[in-house]
Amino acid sequence: MADPAVAADPDELTRVLQEYGRAQERFEALGGYTNEHKVEAVLHGLGFGPAWYDVEVGSLSGGEKKLVNLARILIRMPDLLLLDEPDNHLDLEAKAWLEQYIQSYPGTVLIISHDRQLLDRAVKKIFELEDGRISSYAGNYSYYFEERQRRLQKQYELYTLQQDEIKRLEGVWRQYQGWAKVNDKFATKAEDTLKRIERIKKDAVNKPILMRDKIKVNLDADRSGKKVLEISGLSKAYDGRVLFRPFDFTMLYGERVGIVGANGSGKTTLLKTMLDILPADSGTVKIGASVVAGYYAQEQETLPFDSTPLDFIRRIKPMNEPQTISFLSGLLFSYDDIRTPIHRLSGGEKSRLQIARLMLTDANFLLLDEPTNNLDIASVEVLEAALQEFEGTVLTVSHDRYFLDKIVTKILAIEEDGTVRMYPGNFSYYYEKRHAYPT
Ligand SMILES: Nc1ncnc2c1ncn2[C@@H]1O[C@H](COP(=O)(O)OP(=O)(O)O)[C@@H](O)[C@H]1O
Ligand SMILES: [Mg+2]
Repeated sequence: MADPAVAADPDELTRVLQEYGRAQERFEALGGYTNEHKVEAVLHGLGFGPAWYDVEVGSLSGGEKKLVNLARILIRMPDLLLLDEPDNHLDLEAKAWLEQYIQSYPGTVLIISHDRQLLDRAVKKIFELEDGRISSYAGNYSYYFEERQRRLQKQYELYTLQQDEIKRLEGVWRQYQGWAKVNDKFATKAEDTLKRIERIKKDAVNKPILMRDKIKVNLDADRSGKKVLEISGLSKAYDGRVLFRPFDFTMLYGERVGIVGANGSGKTTLLKTMLDILPADSGTVKIGASVVAGYYAQEQETLPFDSTPLDFIRRIKPMNEPQTISFLSGLLFSYDDIRTPIHRLSGGEKSRLQIARLMLTDANFLLLDEPTNNLDIASVEVLEAALQEFEGTVLTVSHDRYFLDKIVTKILAIEEDGTVRMYPGNFSYYYEKRHAYPT
């Protein structure tokens, strides 16, 4: 437009103006001048404040890079948003934000997720892929969970009816065949009956699998003394950056406490200092009488990577080979997996080995660092049931809100400034109260 040649030519000017108009429309449709706000809102929602804006993407951690990638996709606002486990690297605040974002997204969202709370709050329809078939459910996770059981039950009833009818008709058919030897007209009847049987067989439902193989977890252990853990004045900083300020904390036998905090707030470090794997800057940790601590490490680094599951298990507890194989198959290890070096196993398999160790060491004080991260929903449910039955003491780091609400009755939160604060309730209680205190 600034070109004098264009201004001099009315036709050319009209054409350029029209094009400018179209470009302007497109700019506004894509967010226009509000785009910058949108970018800020998305970044903020995913936990990147203004301090992050000038950080080189190259210097971010693996988890952070994934988040920036997620932000990039969300900002584009496509008509169809496809998300493959986007919540794996999100902390609690960011998950809650994503849930809201999906709920109010103007387009269509198709999301793969293991997060039951997200699936409960943000979605209206669930597709389940199982044995190569897709079934759809017109509701959220809780609806899916019940409806699935109802459908299986119904399918089972129908299956039984059909199988009974097939058996009855086969009896009739055999009888007609016998009579046909004496009287020809029964041969036609026998043939008709056979056709009926084949028709029913063709449309018959498959035998539904009511109970799928699930991992078997039993955490029985002898009880410990009443006072399990006594922490006073514990603190830790890295290179001058405070992770947690001095705090006191006591756990009694049978208590269940969840540790929460943003990514990088120091949850893993806190567990490791409690276990004396890492030194504290100040304070003391006392473990009570007859306490057997069992540690589930987030990065699974406590597993002997060059060993095989078979050797690993037998080093923890003397068992003969058939016993070990039967124990491991209870955790859904296949015959081949049992002899594969641990470093070649999947995250889920490594998780199950860590759970195996907790079971075999008869630990009565479990310190768990994000134990549900690598497990599928069915396995998480088994672990939850085992923890609910477990009579010992549980201290667990988790971002899985559903898990926390089921398992813990107290929350130990590492807050933004490194203050460690106790909330006397489950996760939902903590989430409601978390901003009630000045930080
Ligand atoms: N050996 C170390 N030296 C310096 N910083 C570390 C070291 N180990 C961890 N950190 C930093 O401490 C912070 C807390 O880490 P971590 O305890 O793993 O957090 P969380 O488990 O809450 O995500 C992170 O910013 C991490 O980069
Ligand atoms: Mg951690």
